[in-house]
Amino acid sequence: MRMIATINGEKIAFEAEAHEMLLDVLRREGYKGVKRGCNTGDCGACAIIIDGVVVNSCIVFAASVQGKEIITIEGIGTPDDPHPLQTAFDEEGAIQCGFCTPASIITAYALLKRNPNPTEEEIRDALSGNLCRCGTYTKQINAIQRVAKQGGD
Ligand code: FES
Ligand code: FES
Repeated sequence: MRMIATINGEKIAFEAEAHEMLLDVLRREGYKGVKRGCNTGDCGACAIIIDGVVVNSCIVFAASVQGKEIITIEGIGTPDDPHPLQTAFDEEGAIQCGFCTPASIITAYALLKRNPNPTEEEIRDALSGNLCRCGTYTKQINAIQRVAKQGGD
């Protein structure tokens, strides 16, 4: 079926089979910053924002996003113009292998949008669905606190 959704501020038309998950479609359409870890909704590597809510795209049917607003990591910053969260993750050493990083930044971005001055506990809670095999959690929290102190995003 033919779908239209707004992805990173642009109206995008794409084809999706009724059984296809959004993660598969996004990666096929070139949004490779959306990572596939477990593919079962457990690791958070595929997290994106749909209509302001962080969701794991591997357990969302592509057919359900008609007309919705989607944000992936590609819509947050670029290598030439990184988002403050991307800069802070880099400078705080919160990136090791980097596999979890796009989704952790997506999660932090959504958190700071709804709560510009989160407590450490609120940050931990927000990140609780994003698994990091490299154990960068403390550094991720430092990075998010730093951006919040700078006035959010
Ligand atoms: Fe979607 Fe792990 S790949 S939650
Ligand atoms: Fe390697 Fe998080 S930096 S999984």
